Formats: sequence, C-alpha cells, structure tokens
Amino acid sequence: MAAQITPLSYEEPRGNERLRIAICRYLETKGIYTSPSSILIVSGALQALQLISIGLLRKGSTIFLERPSYLFSLSMFQSAEMKLSGLPMDDAGLIPNEIFKLKHQKESAVLYTIPTFHNPTGILMREKRRIELMRICEKEQIPIIEDNVYGDLWIDMPPPAPLKTLDKYGSVLYLGSLSKTLSPGLRIGWMVGPESVIERLSDLKMQTDYGSSSLSQRVALEWFSSGLYEEHLNNVREQLKIRREVAMQALTDYLKRLASWCEPKGGFFIWVKVSKQMQNKHLFERALAEGVLLNPGNIYAKEAYQYLRLSYAFAPIDEIKEGIYRLGKIIQSM
Ligand SMILES: Cc1ncc(COP(=O)(O)O)c(C=O)c1O
Repeated sequence: MAAQITPLSYEEPRGNERLRIAICRYLETKGIYTSPSSILIVSGALQALQLISIGLLRKGSTIFLERPSYLFSLSMFQSAEMKLSGLPMDDAGLIPNEIFKLKHQKESAVLYTIPTFHNPTGILMREKRRIELMRICEKEQIPIIEDNVYGDLWIDMPPPAPLKTLDKYGSVLYLGSLSKTLSPGLRIGWMVGPESVIERLSDLKMQTDYGSSSLSQRVALEWFSSGLYEEHLNNVREQLKIRREVAMQALTDYLKRLASWCEPKGGFFIWVKVSKQMQNKHLFERALAEGVLLNPGNIYAKEAYQYLRLSYAFAPIDEIKEGIYRLGKIIQSM
C-alpha cells in the first residue's frame, strides 16, 4: 500500500470519494441504499455529534434519548444549552410511547438513539420496536440520530436492520465508525443523511478541521475495498464470543448472589445491577484501591448509582476473570 500513496492533499469536503463509494457498498449489506453525496466522512462518530450540535440543533432544543445513555456522559449537548430528556428502556429497547408523555417538549426536538448494542446497557432494540419507534417519530415529526457504532459487533446473529432502512422521509441521520471494530486511533467515521444536510455539515467540518486525515481515509478505504474489513469482523466476533462467555461465567461464579445482569447479544458491555444499596463512589474507590477500574452507572444516568458497566472487550481474558473475582469480594465486604 505504501507505494500507492501519492502526496497527501486535502480531500473533498465530504471526504475521499472512493472511500464514500466503498462505504455505500458496505451499507448496502445492512439494507441502507444511499449515494456517496449523502455521506460525510468524519473523525469518529463523536465529531458527527459535535457537527450536529453546532450545525443543526438550536439552543434550547430538546434531545430525547435512552436513559441511561452514552450521551449523558458527554458535556457537549448540555453545554450548548440543549435539554436531554431521557426515555425509559426495557429489554426490547427504548419505549417509544413515552415520547407522548413529553409532548410539550416536542417542538424542536430530536431523538438520539443507540438501538444496537446500546452503550451502556448492551440492549438490542427488537425489530417490532424499531418499526414502532419509526412510526411514532414520523407521526410526531421528530428527526432521529441513529448511532450505530456497535452494529457490526453482533455475536449470536446479525441484529435487525438499522432504523435508517425504514426511513421514508430522510429524517434519520445515521452514524457509523471504525473505532469500535478496527481502531479508535484511526479517527474515521461516517454520517449518512439527506444531501442538503450533509452539504451543510461538510462546510462546517471544512471550517473546523479541513477534513479528516487523508492518510486515515486511505487506510480505511484499503480495509473496505480489499475485503479485509469483513474478514477482520469475523475474527472480532469470535473473540467477543469467547470473552463474553468468560465474563458471564465469572459473573455467575463470583457475583451470583450479589448482582443481576443480562447476557448481551453483541457489543462490549454488560450492565450489572448490584443488589446491595451502596454508594457508587465508595465502591469505585475501593475497587480502584484493589486495582479494578470500574465504570459507575451514574455517569450514564444520575439515578443509575446501583449499576456498573463492565466491558469484556479490552482487558486480557485472565484479567476479566480476576477483575470480576475481586469485584465480588469487594461487594461482599461492603
Ligand atoms: C455510542 C457511542 N457513540 C459514539 C462514540 C464515539 O465513537 P468515535 O470513536 O467513533 O468518535 C462512542 C464511543 O465510546 C460510543 O460509545
């Protein structure tokens, strides 16, 4: 590949065209049929959210979202004077009917959702729920930001099709990224939406950073066009399956009477509810002193202080087991 790299210049405002064509082909495998001009290459999904918050949303807008959500752990929307309005979830995903209860906030509202392997709960929104959510959002004219950064990381079977495949009126902005599947440091993601929106946000992106790294875009193109990305995903899924099993077994062995959880069908996370009422802060500090870094639930929703987000993606297998073992000991002693 090194021999093919010509001097690097700025790319087009929407990003490298060949990469956008390759992403179109990749999206077709998910049932999303779009054109390169409806795609903006971004420096990760996080930048897409930033561009949306600056370029599309108004001060005082309401963002409906799952509660808990990854978005509560970011300050950008709140600091842009937007109101985050959480919707409850069950094991089939967020409960769309709850939107009606927040009717008064609907004007200039958008919905941000992570329907597939939700961060932090790992929940996979069922197909029926997706259809219902789309129906309600269409009826209430609420645009949707669909964050699908974990969508490729299914373990047991492919997830239901993205909301974007059900989008009749161009009201879904769809986000994807290579961060969770390939490499977060590459900083390559994509946003799919109506051409007019993509054009506006690509202008804003040009003014922000003159485009994502050309080198990273070419590396991403190589992964997609060589077929290596698909191959790599198969390996990642196999590894995730092994790791999930190790984590599930360790939870059963060491936390059975102390906590409850559901087995995730993909993604990285297990959302663990500690049975004892305890201050997250104390648990966090105790665990840290014992060499275990925890992700307390209240980062993702204030009231989720009895929850922990465990990840089985990053740590080596022995450390996953050891970490859960130590966690069990700590909870028992508190
Ligand atoms: C749901 C979700 N969206 C977006 C991001 C940001 O991803 P990226 O590295 O592509 O900016 C993350 C990272 O943790 C995430 O969990």
